[in-house]
Amino acid sequence: MAPKLAGSIATVAAACVEIAAVLRVAPIAGQTGLAGATNVQGEAQKELDVISNDIFIKHLRQNTDISILVSEELDEALHMQNQGAYAIACDPLDGSSNLDVNVTVGTIFSVLAVDPANPELLQAGTRQLAAGYAAYGPSTSLVLSFGKSVSVFTLDANGVFVLSADAVRVPAASGEYAINTARERFWDAATRAYVAENVAGETGPAGKRYNMRWIGSMVGDIHRILMRGGIFMYPLDSETAAKGGRLRLLYEANPMGLIIEAAGGAATTGRGRILEVPPQDIHQRIPVILGSADEVARVEAHYRAQG
Ligand code: AHG
Ligand code: MN
Ligand code: MN
Ligand code: MN
Repeated sequence: MAPKLAGSIATVAAACVEIAAVLRVAPIAGQTGLAGATNVQGEAQKELDVISNDIFIKHLRQNTDISILVSEELDEALHMQNQGAYAIACDPLDGSSNLDVNVTVGTIFSVLAVDPANPELLQAGTRQLAAGYAAYGPSTSLVLSFGKSVSVFTLDANGVFVLSADAVRVPAASGEYAINTARERFWDAATRAYVAENVAGETGPAGKRYNMRWIGSMVGDIHRILMRGGIFMYPLDSETAAKGGRLRLLYEANPMGLIIEAAGGAATTGRGRILEVPPQDIHQRIPVILGSADEVARVEAHYRAQG
């Protein structure tokens, strides 16, 4: 691995360590509430969204190999004074709705190669140099992939990430699915059909019992799926269609797609591979269906049948 790429990832990891430390005591510091501002997504920013974003900027500015930051919390790409060859696209704090109830949240990041003189940020996910996320849960995990395999590191008592799992594989089959079922009235036929097969259980076409888990933090759901299989679904629905979907391509779908594919899973919009979608905007939204290959294949079969 290029030393400068390793250094850039180390910089991101250091930012995640600082975010983890802030989160651990945030309720005491009274920081789990709203910031009083709205981000470019139209979301009411949490104070910790802003704090996490500021921590990212502080760390990245210090690494001259990183020239640009794209962040969920910044309207425009931040061009730092560095002339570095890398850009970072990040969701500094994923799952903000869970901050006040102490449920796993995370940080998601993607590393892109750029020419600082003429940076091209709208790169398809297949061009990512690396992708990863931190999951701030009972332990603090850092998951990292360069596209061929997936490693999991755990933060130890000394603030050092220690390798705790390597060459992680997503089981092809699973008995768990993750979708916000409160949105059923907005679903398309393919999503309805797939979920109905799961709900039908042993006597239905899937021929087995399913369980449903929805954390409300993409990082939490994806980490469960990475470690034991399953499928995560935020499909295009009648309410999100106007915006192209709910989740963001550059700093949620693409990094998670690289990781899941590198672990032997699949990542689709329902009608095509997420990593091949050409981004139109740094905050572009996209439907996301990813996880165990057999489950994703069944969803895609329903989309083909739907036409
Ligand atoms: P973020 O907190 O970065 O804005 O992302 C929240 C996303 C994702 O983490 C999660 O899977 C999804 O929102 C949950 O959406 P619903 O609240 O509609 O279920
Ligand atoms: Mn948000
Ligand atoms: Mn997010
Ligand atoms: Mn976020």
